[in-house]
Amino acid sequence: MKSIQLHDKHFVPFISKEQIDDYVQQLTQKLAKDIEPDEVPIFIGILNGSFMFAADFVRKYPHDCHITFVKMASYEGVNSTGKIKHLVGINENLEGKTVVILEDIIDTGNTLSEIYDIFRDKNVKQLKIATLFFKPDVFKKDLHIDYIGKSIEDKFIVGYGLDYDGLGRNLPDIYKLKE
Ligand code: IMP
Ligand code: MG
Repeated sequence: MKSIQLHDKHFVPFISKEQIDDYVQQLTQKLAKDIEPDEVPIFIGILNGSFMFAADFVRKYPHDCHITFVKMASYEGVNSTGKIKHLVGINENLEGKTVVILEDIIDTGNTLSEIYDIFRDKNVKQLKIATLFFKPDVFKKDLHIDYIGKSIEDKFIVGYGLDYDGLGRNLPDIYKLKE
């Protein structure tokens, strides 16, 4: 792995694809152990960042499951608070189902808590959160994260679905911003 440049910034190798594969494998095993064998969970990847993680995750999941993707979108609301966030892409009926949100990375937790609020209203049987990466030093929400692949320092990372201004999502390994 060599250093790379995306737009104006330089990034150095941080987590190899072999290590990522290990984290994903461990997460899959934990989930498979916790979810009853007769339960068919619905995994929901949050686009765009989690497309690669979700694809690898379900390939390793050893039982029947559903996979779908959603995207957060905002539009100007009619009230004074301005932007209203909503989810695009959820067509399934989630009532009574075991739903697992798959996130690429949780940073402040703002995105996650918006998503969480939306799913909480859907009468699911249980709602779990699995994230590949987590930044504990910046997380500021009172939300329980059920499964964490790897906790990392507060550094900006790219690769494996994560981007810097649109670039870097296609990289198989993870790089971090050079100091
Ligand atoms: P949060 O709302 O602060 O938790 O940020 C969540 C979203 O910000 C993630 O889903 C990513 O899209 C993006 N993000 C947070 N940290 C990073 C990073 O280190 N690299 C690339 N994107 C990030
Ligand atoms: Mg994201």
